[in-house]
Amino acid sequence: MQTTPTQQLQLRHRSVRRYLDKPLEPGQLESLIRCGQAAATSSFIQAYSVVRVTRPAARAAIAKAAGGQPWIEQAPEFLVFCADLRRINAACEKAGKGALEGFAEHGLAAIVDVALMAQNVLLAAESQGLGGVFIGGIRNDPQVIAEQLALPALVTPLFGMCLGWPDEDNEVKPRMPTELILHQERYADPSADRMADYDAKMAAYYAARGSNVRLSDWSSAVATAIQGKKREHMLDFLRARGFFIR
Ligand SMILES: Cc1cc2nc3c(=O)[nH]c(=O)nc-3n(C[C@H](O)[C@H](O)[C@H](O)COP(=O)(O)O)c2cc1C
Repeated sequence: MQTTPTQQLQLRHRSVRRYLDKPLEPGQLESLIRCGQAAATSSFIQAYSVVRVTRPAARAAIAKAAGGQPWIEQAPEFLVFCADLRRINAACEKAGKGALEGFAEHGLAAIVDVALMAQNVLLAAESQGLGGVFIGGIRNDPQVIAEQLALPALVTPLFGMCLGWPDEDNEVKPRMPTELILHQERYADPSADRMADYDAKMAAYYAARGSNVRLSDWSSAVATAIQGKKREHMLDFLRARGFFIR
């Protein structure tokens, strides 16, 4: 089946971490955020806020908190995407229905909203020739982010996003075969052979790619990454901000 230009853009996605020393055009960021806001949103809650960070000192503190990712300081734009239950909390109070009470479901709805919105922002950016990368590393030390951005209760930072004009052109990272992701009628675990095929494909990709060449495959790379990112502080942090209390 023929792919559309939109699909071709989606299939060309790769994270960009090096940028030209050139700002976005006037109004461009606002237009990208507007595209983000066009995403579907659970019960129309629009439970997101995006904080643009330009202060070098704040960028430096956030880059350090995120484990020393230099692109956070170097990118022409750095945004922090937050789950934001404040406006719906105010709406509940205005309607005399009481405040929100930290239900997990509201937190989940907000997190899904933020992710959909942010992906729309990145795709819109890529459609204009920009590149970017999500920064989950901000959750290494989310308290620093909350302090730097003066985030109030019921607002929690989820991830950052660097944006700018690309100064690198990485290979597209091979995704799993679609039949491992799209199940027919009932869930089916992948066979060991299918996973081994994918590991072999990823090992070849890691060995041959233009930068950050390494000896690894998908299974060992994700096992290491996930073990290193348990972020045991997250539940307490989220609860302190009014999320996932019950
Ligand atoms: C929520 C989220 C958080 C991420 N956090 C980071 C990060 O902190 N630093 C980074 O360099 N890349 C980060 N990434 C980028 C992923 O590593 C990248 O998307 C993945 O390896 C696939 O590569 P690709 O985007 O080039 O296709 C993140 C991606 C997502 C979706």
